[in-house]
Amino acid sequence: MAEETVLGHLEHNQEIPDSGVFSQEKGINHDELVNVIKSLNGFGLVIAADIKREKWLLSDEAQSYVKYGSAEVLIFEAVPAEGTAKAKLQDIVKSKLPADLDDNTKSLIYDKGWAQAMKNKWIGLADSQVSQKVEHVEDRVKDLLIQIQNGEAVGAKDIDALKRRRLISLQIWKGYSVKKGPNYAPKRRKAVTDLVRDHLQRDEWKDIEFKEYNFLAKGQPTEGGCLHPLYKVKLQIQMIFLQMGFEEMPTNNYVESSFWNFDALFQPQQHPARDSHDTFFLKVPSTTNSLPEEYVERVKTVHESGGYGSRGYGYDWKREEANKNLLRTHTTAVSTRMLYALAQGPFTPKRYYSIDRVFRNEAVDRTHLAEFHQIEGLICDRGLSLGHLRGVLEDFFSRIGMSKLKFKPAYNPYTEPSMEIFSYHEGLKKWVEIGNSGMFRPEMLRPMGLPEDVQVIAWGLSLERPTMILYGIDNIRDLFGHKVDLSLTKRNPICRLGLN
Ligand code: PHE
Repeated sequence: MAEETVLGHLEHNQEIPDSGVFSQEKGINHDELVNVIKSLNGFGLVIAADIKREKWLLSDEAQSYVKYGSAEVLIFEAVPAEGTAKAKLQDIVKSKLPADLDDNTKSLIYDKGWAQAMKNKWIGLADSQVSQKVEHVEDRVKDLLIQIQNGEAVGAKDIDALKRRRLISLQIWKGYSVKKGPNYAPKRRKAVTDLVRDHLQRDEWKDIEFKEYNFLAKGQPTEGGCLHPLYKVKLQIQMIFLQMGFEEMPTNNYVESSFWNFDALFQPQQHPARDSHDTFFLKVPSTTNSLPEEYVERVKTVHESGGYGSRGYGYDWKREEANKNLLRTHTTAVSTRMLYALAQGPFTPKRYYSIDRVFRNEAVDRTHLAEFHQIEGLICDRGLSLGHLRGVLEDFFSRIGMSKLKFKPAYNPYTEPSMEIFSYHEGLKKWVEIGNSGMFRPEMLRPMGLPEDVQVIAWGLSLERPTMILYGIDNIRDLFGHKVDLSLTKRNPICRLGLN
Protein backbone atom coordinates (compact mmCIF):
# COMPACT_ATOMS: atom_id res chain seq x y z
CA MET A 1 0.00 0.00 0.00
CA ALA A 2 2.65 2.53 1.11
CA GLU A 3 4.98 1.18 -1.59
CA GLU A 4 2.43 1.76 -4.36
CA THR A 5 1.79 5.25 -3.02
CA VAL A 6 5.48 6.15 -3.17
CA LEU A 7 6.11 4.63 -6.61
CA GLY A 8 2.84 6.01 -7.95
CA HIS A 9 3.62 9.50 -6.71
CA LEU A 10 7.06 9.45 -8.35
CA GLU A 11 5.50 8.46 -11.67
CA HIS A 12 4.05 11.94 -11.99
CA ASN A 13 6.28 13.98 -9.69
CA GLN A 14 9.95 14.79 -9.62
CA GLU A 15 10.37 13.84 -6.00
CA ILE A 16 8.97 13.48 -2.54
CA PRO A 17 10.81 16.32 -0.82
CA ASP A 18 10.00 15.27 2.71
CA SER A 19 8.77 11.92 3.94
CA GLY A 20 7.36 13.54 7.07
CA VAL A 21 5.10 15.85 5.09
CA PHE A 22 4.27 13.06 2.65
CA SER A 23 3.24 10.71 5.45
CA GLN A 24 0.85 13.33 6.81
CA GLU A 25 -0.61 14.15 3.41
CA LYS A 26 -1.21 10.52 2.52
CA GLY A 27 -2.18 9.37 5.98
CA ILE A 28 0.59 6.78 6.16
CA ASN A 29 2.41 6.02 9.39
CA HIS A 30 5.86 7.54 9.06
CA ASP A 31 7.72 4.47 10.39
CA GLU A 32 5.99 2.29 7.83
CA LEU A 33 6.84 4.76 5.10
CA VAL A 34 10.49 4.76 6.15
CA ASN A 35 10.66 0.97 5.89
CA VAL A 36 9.21 1.05 2.39
CA ILE A 37 11.62 3.78 1.30
CA LYS A 38 14.61 1.82 2.65
CA SER A 39 13.59 -1.32 0.81
CA LEU A 40 12.94 0.51 -2.47
CA ASN A 41 16.25 2.29 -2.08
CA GLY A 42 18.04 -1.04 -1.53
CA PHE A 43 16.76 -2.34 -4.86
CA GLY A 44 17.53 0.89 -6.67
CA LEU A 45 13.90 1.70 -7.42
CA VAL A 46 14.32 5.01 -5.65
CA ILE A 47 17.16 7.09 -4.35
CA ALA A 48 16.57 8.29 -0.83
CA ALA A 49 18.49 11.09 0.86
CA ASP A 50 18.51 11.61 4.61
CA ILE A 51 16.71 14.51 6.16
CA LYS A 52 17.40 15.37 9.76
CA ARG A 53 15.35 17.88 11.64
CA GLU A 54 15.63 19.10 15.15
CA LYS A 55 12.39 19.44 16.99
CA TRP A 56 11.65 20.82 20.46
CA LEU A 57 9.49 18.64 22.65
CA LEU A 58 7.44 20.05 25.57
CA SER A 59 7.82 18.31 28.92
CA ASP A 60 4.72 17.27 30.89
CA GLU A 61 5.21 20.29 33.07
CA ALA A 62 5.36 22.60 30.05
CA GLN A 63 2.22 21.02 28.65
CA SER A 64 0.38 21.84 31.88
CA TYR A 65 1.62 25.47 31.54
CA VAL A 66 0.15 25.60 28.05
CA LYS A 67 -3.15 24.46 29.49
CA TYR A 68 -3.36 26.42 32.79
CA GLY A 69 -0.71 29.12 32.51
CA SER A 70 2.83 29.14 33.80
CA ALA A 71 3.52 28.46 37.47
CA GLU A 72 4.85 31.97 38.13
CA VAL A 73 1.71 33.55 36.71
CA LEU A 74 -0.50 31.25 38.76
CA ILE A 75 1.40 32.24 41.91
CA PHE A 76 1.27 35.94 41.08
CA GLU A 77 -2.44 35.79 40.53
CA ALA A 78 -2.99 33.86 43.77
CA VAL A 79 -1.48 36.65 45.88
CA PRO A 80 -4.33 38.93 47.08
CA ALA A 81 -4.00 42.68 46.40
CA GLU A 82 -3.74 43.34 50.12
CA GLY A 83 -1.01 40.68 50.52
CA THR A 84 -1.04 37.57 52.66
CA ALA A 85 1.00 35.67 55.22
CA LYS A 86 3.56 33.46 53.48
CA ALA A 87 2.33 30.53 55.58
CA LYS A 88 -1.09 30.80 53.99
CA LEU A 89 0.01 31.26 50.40
CA GLN A 90 0.42 27.61 49.52
CA ASP A 91 -3.15 26.84 50.59
CA ILE A 92 -4.49 29.80 48.65
CA VAL A 93 -2.59 28.76 45.50
CA LYS A 94 -3.71 25.17 45.74
CA SER A 95 -7.35 26.15 46.25
CA LYS A 96 -7.21 28.30 43.12
CA LEU A 97 -5.54 25.69 40.89
CA PRO A 98 -7.79 23.55 38.70
CA ALA A 99 -9.38 20.66 40.56
CA ASP A 100 -8.20 18.07 38.03
CA LEU A 101 -4.52 18.50 39.05
CA ASP A 102 -3.28 16.11 41.70
CA ASP A 103 -1.67 17.29 44.94
CA ASN A 104 1.89 16.53 43.86
CA THR A 105 1.56 18.61 40.73
CA LYS A 106 0.03 21.41 42.74
CA SER A 107 2.97 21.37 45.16
CA LEU A 108 5.40 21.37 42.23
CA ILE A 109 3.68 24.33 40.60
CA TYR A 110 3.70 26.16 43.90
CA ASP A 111 7.45 25.58 44.44
CA LYS A 112 8.46 26.45 40.89
CA GLY A 113 6.09 29.39 40.65
CA TRP A 114 7.24 30.85 43.95
CA ALA A 115 10.90 30.73 42.97
CA GLN A 116 10.26 32.14 39.49
CA ALA A 117 7.86 34.91 40.63
CA MET A 118 10.35 35.97 43.29
CA LYS A 119 13.14 35.94 40.72
CA ASN A 120 11.02 38.03 38.35
CA LYS A 121 10.40 40.41 41.28
CA TRP A 122 6.66 40.07 40.67
CA ILE A 123 6.13 39.40 44.35
CA GLY A 124 8.04 40.31 47.48
CA LEU A 125 8.41 38.99 51.02
CA ALA A 126 8.62 41.26 54.10
CA ASP A 127 8.00 40.22 57.70
CA SER A 128 6.54 36.89 56.52
CA GLN A 129 4.05 38.82 54.39
CA VAL A 130 3.80 38.28 50.64
CA SER A 131 2.63 41.03 48.38
CA GLN A 132 2.48 41.76 44.62
CA LYS A 133 5.23 44.07 43.42
CA VAL A 134 3.88 44.82 39.95
CA GLU A 135 0.42 45.60 38.77
CA HIS A 136 0.19 43.36 35.79
CA VAL A 137 2.15 40.40 34.38
CA GLU A 138 2.15 38.73 31.00
CA ASP A 139 2.50 35.00 30.57
CA ARG A 140 5.42 34.99 28.13
CA VAL A 141 6.47 31.47 29.05
CA LYS A 142 3.07 30.09 28.14
CA ASP A 143 3.10 32.03 24.87
CA LEU A 144 6.57 30.79 23.97
CA LEU A 145 5.63 27.20 24.71
CA ILE A 146 2.56 27.51 22.46
CA GLN A 147 4.72 28.91 19.67
CA ILE A 148 7.17 26.04 20.02
CA GLN A 149 4.39 23.53 20.06
CA ASN A 150 3.13 25.00 16.79
CA GLY A 151 6.56 24.67 15.23
CA GLU A 152 7.09 28.43 15.07
CA ALA A 153 10.56 29.88 15.37
CA VAL A 154 11.61 31.11 18.78
CA GLY A 155 14.72 33.15 19.65
CA ALA A 156 17.80 31.42 20.89
CA LYS A 157 17.80 33.22 24.22
CA ASP A 158 14.27 32.14 25.02
CA ILE A 159 14.99 28.58 23.92
CA ASP A 160 17.96 28.57 26.23
CA ALA A 161 15.97 29.76 29.20
CA LEU A 162 13.22 27.21 28.63
CA LYS A 163 15.79 24.47 28.20
CA ARG A 164 17.42 25.38 31.50
CA ARG A 165 14.04 25.14 33.18
CA ARG A 166 13.67 21.70 31.55
CA LEU A 167 10.43 22.72 29.94
CA ILE A 168 11.63 21.73 26.49
CA SER A 169 14.11 19.18 25.08
CA LEU A 170 15.57 18.60 21.66
CA GLN A 171 14.48 15.66 19.58
CA ILE A 172 16.06 14.68 16.29
CA TRP A 173 13.60 13.70 13.65
CA LYS A 174 14.76 11.57 10.72
CA GLY A 175 13.12 11.28 7.38
CA TYR A 176 13.95 11.13 3.68
CA SER A 177 13.61 12.94 0.46
CA VAL A 178 12.95 10.47 -2.35
CA LYS A 179 13.62 10.50 -6.09
CA LYS A 180 13.37 7.90 -8.86
CA GLY A 181 16.23 5.40 -8.81
CA PRO A 182 18.03 3.67 -11.71
CA ASN A 183 15.67 0.67 -11.45
CA TYR A 184 12.55 2.78 -11.05
CA ALA A 185 9.29 1.20 -12.16
CA PRO A 186 5.77 2.28 -11.22
CA LYS A 187 5.31 -1.21 -9.79
CA ARG A 188 8.03 -3.36 -8.29
CA ARG A 189 8.61 -6.61 -10.16
CA LYS A 190 9.70 -9.58 -8.13
CA ALA A 191 13.16 -10.63 -9.28
CA VAL A 192 13.46 -14.28 -10.31
CA THR A 193 16.15 -16.38 -8.65
CA ASP A 194 16.27 -19.42 -10.94
CA LEU A 195 15.85 -19.89 -14.64
CA VAL A 196 13.41 -22.77 -15.14
CA ARG A 197 12.13 -24.71 -18.10
CA ASP A 198 8.89 -22.70 -18.30
CA HIS A 199 10.83 -19.48 -18.77
CA LEU A 200 12.44 -20.96 -21.85
CA GLN A 201 9.38 -22.71 -23.23
CA ARG A 202 7.16 -19.64 -22.89
CA ASP A 203 9.91 -17.35 -24.09
CA GLU A 204 9.64 -15.41 -20.85
CA TRP A 205 13.34 -15.32 -20.17
CA LYS A 206 13.85 -12.19 -22.27
CA ASP A 207 11.70 -10.02 -20.04
CA ILE A 208 12.46 -11.54 -16.70
CA GLU A 209 14.38 -9.57 -14.17
CA PHE A 210 16.83 -11.89 -12.46
CA LYS A 211 17.89 -11.46 -8.91
CA GLU A 212 21.47 -10.39 -8.67
CA TYR A 213 23.86 -13.00 -7.41
CA ASN A 214 24.94 -12.30 -3.88
CA PHE A 215 28.58 -13.20 -3.72
CA LEU A 216 28.70 -12.31 -0.06
CA ALA A 217 26.02 -14.78 0.98
CA LYS A 218 27.24 -17.53 3.24
CA GLY A 219 25.77 -20.39 1.18
CA GLN A 220 25.21 -23.94 2.30
CA PRO A 221 27.74 -25.12 4.84
CA THR A 222 30.04 -27.55 3.08
CA GLU A 223 30.30 -30.99 4.48
CA GLY A 224 33.83 -32.09 5.06
CA GLY A 225 35.05 -35.25 3.43
CA CYS A 226 35.00 -38.38 5.54
CA LEU A 227 37.32 -41.32 5.51
CA HIS A 228 35.95 -44.75 4.74
CA PRO A 229 36.56 -47.40 7.44
CA LEU A 230 38.65 -49.43 4.99
CA TYR A 231 40.86 -46.46 4.36
CA LYS A 232 41.28 -45.77 8.06
CA VAL A 233 42.32 -49.32 8.79
CA LYS A 234 44.60 -49.24 5.76
CA LEU A 235 46.34 -46.12 7.09
CA GLN A 236 46.82 -47.74 10.50
CA ILE A 237 48.28 -50.91 9.02
CA GLN A 238 50.51 -48.85 6.79
CA MET A 239 51.83 -47.12 9.94
CA ILE A 240 52.52 -50.49 11.54
CA PHE A 241 54.49 -51.66 8.51
CA LEU A 242 56.46 -48.42 8.44
CA GLN A 243 57.21 -48.70 12.16
CA MET A 244 58.49 -52.21 11.49
CA GLY A 245 60.87 -50.93 8.82
CA PHE A 246 58.95 -52.06 5.71
CA GLU A 247 58.96 -50.22 2.38
CA GLU A 248 55.84 -49.91 0.26
CA MET A 249 55.70 -51.73 -3.07
CA PRO A 250 54.24 -50.01 -6.16
CA THR A 251 50.90 -51.74 -6.67
CA ASN A 252 49.48 -49.34 -9.23
CA ASN A 253 48.72 -51.98 -11.87
CA TYR A 254 45.46 -53.86 -11.63
CA VAL A 255 46.14 -55.51 -14.97
CA GLU A 256 48.82 -58.15 -14.83
CA SER A 257 50.02 -60.94 -17.08
CA SER A 258 49.45 -64.56 -16.12
CA PHE A 259 53.20 -64.86 -16.09
CA TRP A 260 53.72 -62.53 -13.12
CA ASN A 261 50.50 -63.49 -11.40
CA PHE A 262 50.95 -67.29 -11.70
CA ASP A 263 53.88 -68.72 -13.66
CA ALA A 264 56.64 -66.85 -11.90
CA LEU A 265 55.12 -68.13 -8.64
CA PHE A 266 55.58 -71.72 -9.74
CA GLN A 267 51.85 -72.07 -10.06
CA PRO A 268 51.22 -74.76 -12.70
CA GLN A 269 49.24 -73.79 -15.78
CA GLN A 270 46.53 -76.38 -15.02
CA HIS A 271 46.01 -74.95 -11.54
CA PRO A 272 42.25 -74.52 -10.89
CA ALA A 273 42.73 -70.92 -9.69
CA ARG A 274 43.56 -69.98 -13.27
CA ASP A 275 40.21 -71.18 -14.58
CA SER A 276 38.05 -68.39 -15.87
CA HIS A 277 35.60 -68.92 -13.04
CA ASP A 278 38.26 -67.75 -10.59
CA THR A 279 40.20 -65.26 -12.66
CA PHE A 280 39.03 -62.30 -14.74
CA PHE A 281 40.91 -62.49 -18.03
CA LEU A 282 41.13 -59.43 -20.24
CA LYS A 283 39.62 -59.36 -23.72
CA VAL A 284 41.45 -56.23 -24.82
CA PRO A 285 44.41 -56.28 -24.69
CA SER A 286 44.23 -60.00 -24.18
CA THR A 287 47.97 -60.61 -23.98
CA THR A 288 51.08 -58.93 -22.68
CA ASN A 289 53.66 -57.83 -25.19
CA SER A 290 56.80 -57.96 -23.13
CA LEU A 291 58.29 -60.35 -20.59
CA PRO A 292 61.94 -60.77 -19.55
CA GLU A 293 62.83 -63.55 -22.00
CA GLU A 294 65.77 -65.18 -20.20
CA TYR A 295 63.81 -65.32 -16.96
CA VAL A 296 60.78 -66.71 -18.83
CA GLU A 297 63.04 -69.50 -20.12
CA ARG A 298 64.17 -70.39 -16.58
CA VAL A 299 60.56 -70.35 -15.33
CA LYS A 300 59.51 -72.60 -18.22
CA THR A 301 62.32 -75.02 -17.34
CA VAL A 302 61.52 -75.13 -13.64
CA HIS A 303 57.83 -75.85 -14.43
CA GLU A 304 58.65 -78.54 -16.98
CA SER A 305 61.66 -80.29 -15.51
CA GLY A 306 62.58 -78.56 -12.25
CA GLY A 307 66.12 -77.69 -11.12
CA TYR A 308 67.54 -76.25 -7.87
CA GLY A 309 66.77 -79.62 -6.24
CA SER A 310 63.22 -79.84 -7.67
CA ARG A 311 61.72 -82.25 -10.18
CA GLY A 312 59.26 -79.70 -11.55
CA TYR A 313 55.72 -80.54 -12.65
CA GLY A 314 56.65 -82.48 -15.79
CA TYR A 315 54.18 -80.90 -18.24
CA ASP A 316 54.40 -78.87 -21.43
CA TRP A 317 54.63 -75.23 -20.35
CA LYS A 318 52.89 -72.95 -22.85
CA ARG A 319 53.97 -69.39 -23.50
CA GLU A 320 50.46 -68.43 -24.75
CA GLU A 321 49.10 -69.24 -21.32
CA ALA A 322 51.70 -67.03 -19.62
CA ASN A 323 50.97 -64.13 -21.99
CA LYS A 324 47.29 -63.88 -21.05
CA ASN A 325 46.35 -60.63 -19.35
CA LEU A 326 44.18 -60.71 -16.26
CA LEU A 327 43.10 -58.62 -13.31
CA ARG A 328 45.61 -59.59 -10.65
CA THR A 329 44.20 -62.18 -8.26
CA HIS A 330 46.69 -61.35 -5.51
CA THR A 331 49.26 -58.69 -4.71
CA THR A 332 51.86 -61.47 -4.57
CA ALA A 333 52.18 -60.74 -8.31
CA VAL A 334 53.72 -57.40 -7.32
CA SER A 335 55.93 -59.07 -4.67
CA THR A 336 57.20 -61.35 -7.42
CA ARG A 337 58.07 -58.45 -9.72
CA MET A 338 59.85 -56.73 -6.81
CA LEU A 339 61.88 -59.81 -5.91
CA TYR A 340 62.85 -60.33 -9.56
CA ALA A 341 63.97 -56.68 -9.75
CA LEU A 342 65.89 -57.11 -6.49
CA ALA A 343 67.67 -60.18 -7.87
CA GLN A 344 69.00 -58.18 -10.83
CA GLY A 345 71.40 -56.18 -8.63
CA PRO A 346 73.86 -57.04 -5.86
CA PHE A 347 71.77 -58.55 -3.07
CA THR A 348 70.45 -56.34 -0.29
CA PRO A 349 67.97 -57.53 2.37
CA LYS A 350 64.50 -55.97 2.03
CA ARG A 351 61.23 -55.65 3.90
CA TYR A 352 58.36 -54.89 1.56
CA TYR A 353 54.66 -54.35 2.10
CA SER A 354 51.61 -53.43 0.05
CA ILE A 355 47.92 -52.84 0.64
CA ASP A 356 45.86 -52.74 -2.54
CA ARG A 357 43.03 -54.14 -4.57
CA VAL A 358 42.79 -57.60 -6.10
CA PHE A 359 40.09 -59.31 -8.17
CA ARG A 360 38.57 -62.78 -8.12
CA ASN A 361 35.69 -64.10 -10.13
CA GLU A 362 33.84 -65.39 -7.10
CA ALA A 363 30.17 -65.63 -6.22
CA VAL A 364 29.34 -62.61 -4.07
CA ASP A 365 27.98 -63.40 -0.61
CA ARG A 366 28.11 -62.02 2.94
CA THR A 367 31.87 -62.51 3.15
CA HIS A 368 33.01 -62.45 -0.47
CA LEU A 369 33.25 -59.79 -3.12
CA ALA A 370 34.71 -60.03 -6.61
CA GLU A 371 37.19 -57.35 -5.62
CA PHE A 372 38.79 -56.80 -2.27
CA HIS A 373 42.02 -55.57 -0.73
CA GLN A 374 45.07 -57.55 0.23
CA ILE A 375 47.61 -56.68 2.83
CA GLU A 376 50.93 -58.30 2.07
CA GLY A 377 54.28 -58.28 3.79
CA LEU A 378 57.55 -59.99 2.97
CA ILE A 379 61.08 -60.11 4.25
CA CYS A 380 63.90 -61.13 1.98
CA ASP A 381 67.18 -61.94 3.70
CA ARG A 382 69.88 -64.54 4.20
CA GLY A 383 69.29 -67.43 6.59
CA LEU A 384 65.59 -66.90 7.31
CA SER A 385 63.61 -69.79 8.83
CA LEU A 386 60.04 -70.64 9.77
CA GLY A 387 60.92 -69.35 13.27
CA HIS A 388 61.52 -65.90 11.80
CA LEU A 389 58.18 -66.07 10.04
CA ARG A 390 56.35 -66.96 13.26
CA GLY A 391 58.18 -64.21 15.10
CA VAL A 392 57.35 -61.51 12.60
CA LEU A 393 53.71 -62.65 12.41
CA GLU A 394 53.36 -62.51 16.22
CA ASP A 395 54.85 -59.01 16.16
CA PHE A 396 52.72 -57.75 13.26
CA PHE A 397 49.40 -59.17 14.45
CA SER A 398 49.87 -58.11 18.07
CA ARG A 399 50.22 -54.54 16.78
CA ILE A 400 46.83 -54.94 15.10
CA GLY A 401 45.43 -56.19 18.39
CA MET A 402 45.57 -59.93 17.75
CA SER A 403 48.07 -61.43 20.13
CA LYS A 404 46.61 -64.93 20.40
CA LEU A 405 47.66 -66.72 17.21
CA LYS A 406 47.53 -70.32 15.98
CA PHE A 407 49.10 -71.72 12.82
CA LYS A 408 47.84 -74.52 10.67
CA PRO A 409 49.86 -76.23 7.92
CA ALA A 410 48.52 -75.29 4.49
CA TYR A 411 49.33 -75.49 0.82
CA ASN A 412 50.27 -72.78 -1.66
CA PRO A 413 52.03 -73.60 -4.95
CA TYR A 414 54.64 -70.92 -4.19
CA THR A 415 55.35 -71.46 -0.48
CA GLU A 416 56.81 -74.33 1.47
CA PRO A 417 56.17 -74.61 4.33
CA SER A 418 52.84 -72.75 4.28
CA MET A 419 50.76 -71.76 7.30
CA GLU A 420 47.24 -70.50 7.68
CA ILE A 421 47.00 -67.96 10.49
CA PHE A 422 44.19 -68.06 13.05
CA SER A 423 43.45 -65.54 15.75
CA TYR A 424 41.23 -65.99 18.78
CA HIS A 425 38.35 -63.55 18.62
CA GLU A 426 37.27 -62.54 22.11
CA GLY A 427 33.91 -61.21 20.95
CA LEU A 428 33.00 -64.23 18.83
CA LYS A 429 34.69 -66.61 21.34
CA LYS A 430 36.26 -68.61 18.55
CA TRP A 431 39.32 -68.94 16.37
CA VAL A 432 38.95 -67.10 13.07
CA GLU A 433 41.15 -67.49 10.02
CA ILE A 434 42.88 -64.20 9.37
CA GLY A 435 45.63 -64.87 6.86
CA ASN A 436 47.97 -67.05 4.93
CA SER A 437 51.75 -67.23 5.02
CA GLY A 438 54.81 -69.20 4.07
CA MET A 439 58.36 -69.29 2.83
CA PHE A 440 58.69 -68.82 -0.92
CA ARG A 441 59.87 -71.96 -2.67
CA PRO A 442 63.32 -72.18 -4.30
CA GLU A 443 61.46 -73.00 -7.56
CA MET A 444 60.14 -69.43 -7.37
CA LEU A 445 63.19 -67.56 -6.06
CA ARG A 446 66.12 -69.27 -7.81
CA PRO A 447 65.04 -68.68 -11.44
CA MET A 448 64.92 -64.97 -10.53
CA GLY A 449 68.60 -65.13 -9.73
CA LEU A 450 68.47 -64.61 -5.96
CA PRO A 451 71.49 -66.18 -4.17
CA GLU A 452 71.04 -69.73 -2.85
CA ASP A 453 71.18 -68.74 0.83
CA VAL A 454 68.51 -66.04 0.49
CA GLN A 455 65.05 -66.87 1.78
CA VAL A 456 61.80 -64.96 1.65
CA ILE A 457 59.16 -65.16 4.36
CA ALA A 458 55.80 -63.67 3.44
CA TRP A 459 52.20 -63.36 4.52
CA GLY A 460 48.96 -61.98 3.22
CA LEU A 461 45.54 -61.14 4.55
CA SER A 462 42.50 -59.21 3.46
CA LEU A 463 41.91 -55.64 4.59
CA GLU A 464 38.18 -56.29 4.75
CA ARG A 465 38.32 -59.01 7.40
CA PRO A 466 39.96 -56.98 10.22
CA THR A 467 37.90 -53.92 9.24
CA MET A 468 34.64 -55.84 9.52
CA ILE A 469 35.67 -57.27 12.89
CA LEU A 470 36.75 -53.84 14.11
CA TYR A 471 33.60 -52.03 12.97
CA GLY A 472 31.17 -54.82 13.79
CA ILE A 473 30.03 -55.19 10.17
CA ASP A 474 28.90 -58.72 9.30
CA ASN A 475 28.00 -58.27 5.64
CA ILE A 476 30.87 -57.23 3.39
CA ARG A 477 28.36 -55.55 1.05
CA ASP A 478 27.62 -53.04 3.81
CA LEU A 479 31.27 -52.09 3.78
CA PHE A 480 32.20 -51.97 0.11
CA GLY A 481 30.39 -51.57 -3.19
CA HIS A 482 27.27 -49.91 -4.52
CA LYS A 483 25.03 -50.96 -1.62
CA VAL A 484 27.00 -49.09 1.00
CA ASP A 485 25.02 -46.54 2.97
CA LEU A 486 27.03 -43.38 2.38
CA SER A 487 26.30 -42.08 5.85
CA LEU A 488 28.44 -44.96 7.12
CA THR A 489 31.50 -42.96 6.16
CA LYS A 490 30.18 -39.99 8.08
CA ARG A 491 29.20 -41.82 11.23
CA ASN A 492 31.98 -44.36 11.59
CA PRO A 493 34.27 -43.91 14.58
CA ILE A 494 38.01 -43.42 14.50
CA CYS A 495 40.07 -46.51 13.90
CA ARG A 496 41.24 -48.02 17.20
CA LEU A 497 43.48 -50.70 15.82
CA GLY A 498 45.55 -52.54 18.39
CA LEU A 499 43.91 -51.08 21.50
CA ASN A 500 42.48 -54.42 22.57
N1 PHE B 1 48.91 -64.58 -2.06
C1 PHE B 1 48.26 -65.28 -1.01
C2 PHE B 1 46.74 -65.18 -1.17
O1 PHE B 1 46.29 -64.73 -2.14
C3 PHE B 1 48.66 -64.76 0.34
C4 PHE B 1 50.06 -65.13 0.63
C5 PHE B 1 50.99 -64.15 0.50
C6 PHE B 1 50.42 -66.37 1.03
C7 PHE B 1 52.31 -64.44 0.78
C8 PHE B 1 51.73 -66.69 1.35
C9 PHE B 1 52.66 -65.71 1.18
O2 PHE B 1 46.01 -65.54 -0.28
